[in-house]
Amino acid sequence: MIYLDNAATSFPKAPSVAETVAGFLASAAANPGRSAHRMAVETERRIDDVRLRLTRLIGGDDPRRMIFTLNGTDALNIAIKGALAAEPDGAHVVATVVEHNSVARPLRALADAGRVCVTWVDCDEQGHVDPADIAAAMTDATRLVVMIHASNVTGAIQDAAAVGRVVRAHGALFCLDAAQTIGLLPIDVDAMNVDLLAFPAHKALLGPPGVGGLWVGPRCDPVMRPWREGGTGGDSSSPAQPVEWPHRLEAGTANTAGIIGLGAALKRPIEGRLAHERELRRMLMDRLEGDGRFAVVGPRDSGRCVGVVSLNVAGSDPHDVAAILDDSFDIAVRAGLHCAPGVHRRLGTFPAGTVRASFGPFNTEADVDRLAHALDQIA
Ligand code: ALA
Repeated sequence: MIYLDNAATSFPKAPSVAETVAGFLASAAANPGRSAHRMAVETERRIDDVRLRLTRLIGGDDPRRMIFTLNGTDALNIAIKGALAAEPDGAHVVATVVEHNSVARPLRALADAGRVCVTWVDCDEQGHVDPADIAAAMTDATRLVVMIHASNVTGAIQDAAAVGRVVRAHGALFCLDAAQTIGLLPIDVDAMNVDLLAFPAHKALLGPPGVGGLWVGPRCDPVMRPWREGGTGGDSSSPAQPVEWPHRLEAGTANTAGIIGLGAALKRPIEGRLAHERELRRMLMDRLEGDGRFAVVGPRDSGRCVGVVSLNVAGSDPHDVAAILDDSFDIAVRAGLHCAPGVHRRLGTFPAGTVRASFGPFNTEADVDRLAHALDQIA
């Protein structure tokens, strides 16, 4: 089987992830931060080591600001709802039309409840957002800007550093959705003026599902409220959720096995992964472009993308194409709207969506050949 659905979740996972998770569950799965026995203390040490390595990966300096979450969606909900909870009704938020539903739906729910007003900034014909359009959308009432770093539909990478400068100059908070970029692109929260960085473990980081992260910068301290309250292990007598990091946003027993599995994945260097994915994307684009039977949606320049290609075969429904790729060619891709209807509306592929091939570090040139050949046969 050729797996080309790495934007949904990477497969295979990094070598040693499964073994590390199984080993932990079999021999050392205590609850960190609760009890004082040696096994609990050792689990806490291992969890904190992963916290530290993630913090270093994104250019942070205080590992207590790295919060473990359930996944990217959980991190984004905690970030968006937590950052806006203390704001009066009518706070203004800026997001873009290329956002995933994990941003679009929480913002829509807050807007429907009368809590916020949202401006959805447009993208160009290839899916890129102009930072000047973000600047133009901001008003005196803008408290938060949320943007996806790279589209899960087109692969288009946004200029997060330029947007960060605009948002910082205005004084609002900047939340970056790094679901498709962490583990591929260098991220430096300080240099990019990011206040909230949300991400899952199971995509380019090659970790297991059920774990995500949210880095919370110091500018969030005065406003950030917990989205859930509960046990944190320390100071059980306090009737209120602690305000210290990470406990302010971490309540309940964590997915310790998943976090330790992520720790095993983080031992694999990320250098070279983006170049490899881009090369595979370029090869596929070379095979498709100029052939009238195929319509590629998104950037032509793979140098401005992660390794995702969205396309349609003329006259065919994307779900049919994906089913034939699976049944007849043993190639796994994702079809449809990819939980991001806004970008499809904007780029003219709503409601059927596209066929999406997304590359990972274990894919090869031979995989691209097989996909191009299969698409040719289907067309
Ligand atoms: N957001 C994931 C995707 O793009 C699941 O497929």
